[in-house]
Amino acid sequence: MGKHFDTKSVHLSGIQEKKINSKTTPIYQTSAFKFKDLEDLENFYQGKNDYLYTRVGNPNTDELGAAVAQLEGAPRGVAASSGTAAILAGILAVAKQGDHVIAAADIYGGTYQLLANELPDLGIEVSFIDFSDWDKIAEYVRNNTKMVYSESVSNPLLRREDIDALVALAKDAQLVLMIDNTFATPYLCRPYEQGADLVVHSATKYIGGHSDITAGVLVGHEDLIEKANQKIVNLGSSLSPFEAWLTCRGLKTLSVRMERHVTNAQKLADALQKHEAVEKVYYPKDVSPFGNGAIVTMDITATCDVETFFQSLGWIKIVPTLAGVETSVSYPLATSHRALPEETQKQLGITEGLIRISVGIEAADDIIAGFNQALNQARRS
Ligand SMILES: Cc1ncc(COP(=O)(O)O)c(C=O)c1O
Repeated sequence: MGKHFDTKSVHLSGIQEKKINSKTTPIYQTSAFKFKDLEDLENFYQGKNDYLYTRVGNPNTDELGAAVAQLEGAPRGVAASSGTAAILAGILAVAKQGDHVIAAADIYGGTYQLLANELPDLGIEVSFIDFSDWDKIAEYVRNNTKMVYSESVSNPLLRREDIDALVALAKDAQLVLMIDNTFATPYLCRPYEQGADLVVHSATKYIGGHSDITAGVLVGHEDLIEKANQKIVNLGSSLSPFEAWLTCRGLKTLSVRMERHVTNAQKLADALQKHEAVEKVYYPKDVSPFGNGAIVTMDITATCDVETFFQSLGWIKIVPTLAGVETSVSYPLATSHRALPEETQKQLGITEGLIRISVGIEAADDIIAGFNQALNQARRS
């Protein structure tokens, strides 16, 4: 350490050299890691040191990848700067120019845009297929098909995917099966344990759980995650240490949050089903032996004035996302699914009065009362 004030203020006290046994993982808020000498630096490239530069790897992002992998029952996981970045890394780990991917037609709008608008520019063709029609899927498999992509619970109509059937189809045709498990979470459903090769999360949602981060996690077979990790490093889509740390903090309460989300969602779905101002309720029963879904979607097109409904929600927030602890609603036609062609919106059932409800962890009675009063005000006489 130099003698001068200017030097001392830059180099601080060196407390980081001490071994401190903190209860929680510290935040490694650093863009790079230091080395004792050139041999120490060389050790990184020989695989003996873990960390060099945060875009290439960081203890907090590694902790998140490993934690989600453990919950999904997969050998390895990797974090990314968003769910979308994790999806792209997973696909590019498997498909390259000249290859073909088969995807469910009713996937999240942002994923649809990634697959429909970006993959063709990389020379990867995508076929979007109605996955409720089993015979059709096999018909679309070609010599260059590499991957089948779907979501365990679809967004916003909450179709529960038949993962066992997809696993059988993918094994038969020697394709990689990738499942987006964002809506179900490993609390309800573990596609890797069922035989999927890659499982992806928008950790922005239930994994983080508090609507304060944007993150993604991809888990699966060791070799595929190794390739996906390389894509994340090369594309510069690594997650920041602080976001990873916050996501890990949120993840610790996944189980108790999901228990309450699911119980409340079940009660709300039952109440909405009985409400005369609700035309149709979408609610996935028996997502797994662990329970039903945590999201409820309803259609009020024919029965209510949609603008009045949104104006009458009181404390219930209008937010184009899901899975926070607060109950919120989103409007797929104007947000997540607005970029889809009108024809596709119609085919998928994304109607003018379709409302997706992310059921929070508040008291169920308050949630039900909140929706009852908004529906009563919006109801057409
Ligand atoms: C099911 C699903 N997958 C992926 C994504 C994309 O995640 P992110 O916004 O973290 O990129 C979303 C976002 O809403 C989603 O709902």
